[in-house]
Amino acid sequence: MRAVAVAHPNVALVKYWGKRARAGNLPATGSLSLVLGGLATETSVDFDPALARDRVLLDGREDPETTSRVTACLDLLRGEAGVSARAAVLSRNDFPTGAGLASSASGFAALVTAGAGALGLHLKPQRLAEIARLGSGSAPRSLLGGVVLLTNRGQTTVCEQVAAPADWPLEIVVAVTTSGPKATSSREGMARSEQTSPYYDSWVQTHGGDLEAGLAAVRARDFPALADIAEHNCLKMHAVMLTTRPPLIYWTPATLACLHRVQELRRDGVPVFFTVDAGPQVKAVCLPGVAGDVAAALAAVPGVLQVLRSPLGEGARLRANAD
Ligand code: DP6
Repeated sequence: MRAVAVAHPNVALVKYWGKRARAGNLPATGSLSLVLGGLATETSVDFDPALARDRVLLDGREDPETTSRVTACLDLLRGEAGVSARAAVLSRNDFPTGAGLASSASGFAALVTAGAGALGLHLKPQRLAEIARLGSGSAPRSLLGGVVLLTNRGQTTVCEQVAAPADWPLEIVVAVTTSGPKATSSREGMARSEQTSPYYDSWVQTHGGDLEAGLAAVRARDFPALADIAEHNCLKMHAVMLTTRPPLIYWTPATLACLHRVQELRRDGVPVFFTVDAGPQVKAVCLPGVAGDVAAALAAVPGVLQVLRSPLGEGARLRANAD
């Protein structure tokens, strides 16, 4: 009753910020993302009848909020398998946790993959995605690889791969500007934005057009068009965050300096664009061949602590011969 799974974080190009319903953690809008194959979460799930409750260690630490989300996902898996045993869950990220690098997405994608594997379940991908979504709305996107589209359909969400990593081998450079966890979780931040930002309604109303434009750009492999819509959608989400009360200011001075640097590089003819999630790190998406130059340029920006390079990655999978 034990299995180990690996999943990669993803970064949204057309983003999810806000919920249609708290029950089922249904997003207000669809989203389009890239899976970052160079960063990984490895999670083991061990169902053990001797345990009185689920025990969850994330990078060696226990956190009640994470444990209750994990238990919600595991309860559904236990229900599918007709098993009541509690589980010991160990999860490790090889990148900074909870600082806007989508660790919850890779974490819950790895969790449900390992949990289903440990119970010997062969669930339909759609069911697994619904269980992962309870943990984190962006987690279903990490179950698949490459470029992934998540859309709302009735009372659920559906994910599909739009391009495999080999179809359009984009590279991502991550500029890390702060290593600690963020002050406000996405879940709490979204709830606050829905209630208080005067821009939230326009964010939702204009989102369908952004998603269509992003999807068309990926399908046509039109990098300039993707750069245009991804930067616009990112800044629009941050406009909602900034106008939330109390405000959600995820950027540091180094974040902003990186955004300027990426725009300068593009003006100089380098095919790169930026995006930033609910944290201070900047992700620079590059056409093949320029990631080395972009990484060097961002490493030289004052305040950048570390630069990571990543190709597109595969979806979550069980690790064979887990020990
Ligand atoms: C800014 O998936 O972390 O990264 O569903 O409440 O767990 P919950 O939120 P989460 O939010 C991701 C927000 C984002 C944008 C995105 O990834 O689309």
